[in-house]
Amino acid sequence: MTLPGKPVNILVLGSGGRENVLCWKLAQSPLCKAIYCAPGNGGTAKLDKVQNLEIDILDFNTIKKFCHDQPIDLVVVGPELPLSQGIVDVLEADGIRVFGPSRQGACLEWSKAFAKEFMENVGIPTAKFVVSESFEKTEETIKNNWARVLKVDGLAAGKGVFVCVDEKESLEAAEKIFKQKAFGEAGNKVVIEEKLFGDELSLLALCDGVDLVPLLASQDHKRRFENDRGPNTGGMGAYAPVELYKRHEKAIEEQVLNPIRNALKAGKLTFKGVLFIGLMVSDKPYVLEFNTRFGDPETQTILPLLKSDLLEALWACTDKTLSKVKLEWSNNSSCCVCLVAENYPEGNSKGQKIELPEEFEDTFVFHAGTKVADGKLVTNGGRILNVVGVAPTMSQAIAAAYNTIPSVKFSGLAYRRDIARRALACPSV
Ligand code: AMP
Ligand code: GLY
Repeated sequence: MTLPGKPVNILVLGSGGRENVLCWKLAQSPLCKAIYCAPGNGGTAKLDKVQNLEIDILDFNTIKKFCHDQPIDLVVVGPELPLSQGIVDVLEADGIRVFGPSRQGACLEWSKAFAKEFMENVGIPTAKFVVSESFEKTEETIKNNWARVLKVDGLAAGKGVFVCVDEKESLEAAEKIFKQKAFGEAGNKVVIEEKLFGDELSLLALCDGVDLVPLLASQDHKRRFENDRGPNTGGMGAYAPVELYKRHEKAIEEQVLNPIRNALKAGKLTFKGVLFIGLMVSDKPYVLEFNTRFGDPETQTILPLLKSDLLEALWACTDKTLSKVKLEWSNNSSCCVCLVAENYPEGNSKGQKIELPEEFEDTFVFHAGTKVADGKLVTNGGRILNVVGVAPTMSQAIAAAYNTIPSVKFSGLAYRRDIARRALACPSV
């Protein structure tokens, strides 16, 4: 890796739990001098070496000026919106080093049709699909029994996917998208998919444009309530490692990662940053979706298990030197429970006082929707805190997380009581 001889200044963009854990891990690097987090949250505000910054993450000109004034040596982009609007292209055109994909690379996330066509072209197993730009074609397609999943093509804040039970429900989804225009322009095109069944896995992979290095696989819990009931959320908790991944590692390597590597080498894909591969595993692994950023809460659950220097790895992605990076992981288990507002995902919580002990044993608390107002820590969003238990076994990691939760207090605090329980039911390989 060719990091400069002296410690560097980093700018992290975003304000969630993901950005809190990224700042926490990057700050541990001896090569890190200072981190600015825009806008950050109550957790990033109190980390060593880290300072919050009031800059709008879509205000590219102000970000560019800040990077030159400091100067910033590396920008790490958290959320998908600035990526889809081309922040990496804008900053790199000005000579600023950025971890993240160009607008073209981020297309794997901001266009579901592009992602499906890419998978089809390079032979990655994925659900059968049809792309439609009209209500009539969609209506015709969902007459087929297999066509029960509708996905809005563009970014829709995690709300544009409809997994339907029958033709009637699929038709209602089509009406919502095309007739009621519930997603505006993002819904001008849809992907209609075959419904798959199986277990989901989240695999993040670092990419330097030519090589791809998978991180530890994890499993998210998307539904709001216990036993996977209720509305879909951004994630109610996650755990790692996942036995299911170990059982299918070879197939994932051969059928998913190798085709992506080959596409990079053949110039069929332009990508650098982190690729989030959402998998459904049944008889074999199928790719459900790509995101072009770190997952949330997946990142909060895996980074506490990373022994290697994250800064070196992210820097290598900007330098095409990822092949020289060897990532080492601890053998511990990790369980991340999201503490959310009572009315999440429909609503959020603002300005409620949070009580939080200063220190925790065998548990990390990363902030998401929090901020410091008049010197007090208060709620500021739907997902408020991430409590991550780390221990030699999964049952100890679960106990560590859940034993910590009673010491955290805010009005309306809610969480799922069954995060990672399925890991205990899954026999070891
Ligand atoms: P996506 O944003 O494409 O990952 O979709 C969000 C969620 O919808 C996934 O995490 C799955 O739970 C579900 N989903 C997406 N595509 C399918 C599919 N083809 N079959 C069954 N469930 C799906
Ligand atoms: N946890 C799912 C995501 O980050 O999109």
